[in-house]
Amino acid sequence: MDNINVAIRDLCKRKNAIILAHYYQRPEIQEVADFIGDSLALAHQAAKTDADILVVCGVHFMAETAKILCPDKKVLIPDPTAGCSLADSCKAEDLAEWKSAHPDHTIVSYVNTSAAVKALTDVVVTSSNALKIVNSLPKDAKILFGPDKNLGSYVNSVTGRQMDLWNGCCHVHSRFSVEALLALKQQYPNAKVLAHPECKQVILNLADEIGSTQALLNYVRRNPEQHDFIVVTESGILHEMRKACPQANLIPVPPEMTEGVGCSCNECEYMRQNTLEKLYDCLLHENNEIVVSAQIAEKAVVPIERMLDLSK
Ligand code: 13P
Ligand code: SF4
Repeated sequence: MDNINVAIRDLCKRKNAIILAHYYQRPEIQEVADFIGDSLALAHQAAKTDADILVVCGVHFMAETAKILCPDKKVLIPDPTAGCSLADSCKAEDLAEWKSAHPDHTIVSYVNTSAAVKALTDVVVTSSNALKIVNSLPKDAKILFGPDKNLGSYVNSVTGRQMDLWNGCCHVHSRFSVEALLALKQQYPNAKVLAHPECKQVILNLADEIGSTQALLNYVRRNPEQHDFIVVTESGILHEMRKACPQANLIPVPPEMTEGVGCSCNECEYMRQNTLEKLYDCLLHENNEIVVSAQIAEKAVVPIERMLDLSK
C-alpha cells in the first residue's frame, strides 16, 4: 500500500472516521474506502454508522444527504465544489414556484438534488428504488418527478404512470452516442448492454439491463459465463466490475462527437474532483465540513427517511 493510503487509514482509525465512496470515484479512492456503493447504499450506510466522522467521496448532494441523516456527526467531503449538473438543473426557488401553482401534486425528487429541493419534496428516490416507490403511490396521484427527465420517462414507461417531468438531465448520461452503441453492438453481437436509467430513452431501448450502478455491477457478477458487456454509464463503475469479473470484456460507450472533435471520455468531472491528496487533507484538518441549516434539514430528512422506509 502507498504511504498516503496508510496515512489515510491511520487517520480513520485515530479519529473513528469512515470513508464512503461512490462507484464513480477514482479507483484509488475506491480502494482506500471503507464502503463503496450507489447513492441508496451510501445513504443507508450513513444512516447506520457509529463513526464520529464520515468522509463522503462523491458529489456534494451525497455528502449533504449523509449530513441530513446524521446531523450530530461531522460529515466531510474532499472537494466541496464537486457538484452535479443534474442537481443544478432544479433550483429550489423554481420548484417552489411550480409547487405553489400545482398544490395537488406529489413531488417525487431524485436524490440528485440539493437539500433545499428535498425540503420541498414528498418522497426522494434513487435509481435503485424509483420504480418501487412510484408504484407505491396511489394510482390516481398527480406526480411531479424531477429533475431527471430521462429517469422520469423510464419510470413512466415501466409503471404506466403519466408523471409530469422536470426538464433536467445529467450531462454525462445524456451525451452517450447512440451511433457508437449501435456500432459496438454490431462488433460484439453477443454482448449484453448495461445502461443507467439517466441515459436517453433511445439508449435504454437498446439495453439488456437498466439499473443503478449497483444493479449494473450485480448483473455482471450474476453472469460470469457472459464475456462481453457494453457499459453505458460513467466509467468509474468499470473498476469494481473488473475486480468482480476479471475475465469479462467490459466495453465503455463513448459520448457523442461535438463539432467533429470526439473524445472517449465518459467521466463525470465532478466525481473526479476528489483525489487521494484532497481526501488525506480533509481528514487531517477536518475541513470541508458539510453544513445544512436546521430549518432545511428538518424538512429534508422527512422525504429521505420515507425513501429509506419504502426501500426496505
Ligand atoms: P447511482 O445511485 O445509480 O449510483 O447513481 C448516481 C449518479 O449520480 C448517477 O449519475
Ligand atoms: Fe451528477 Fe451526472 Fe455526475 Fe451523476 S454522473 S454525479 S448525475 S453530473
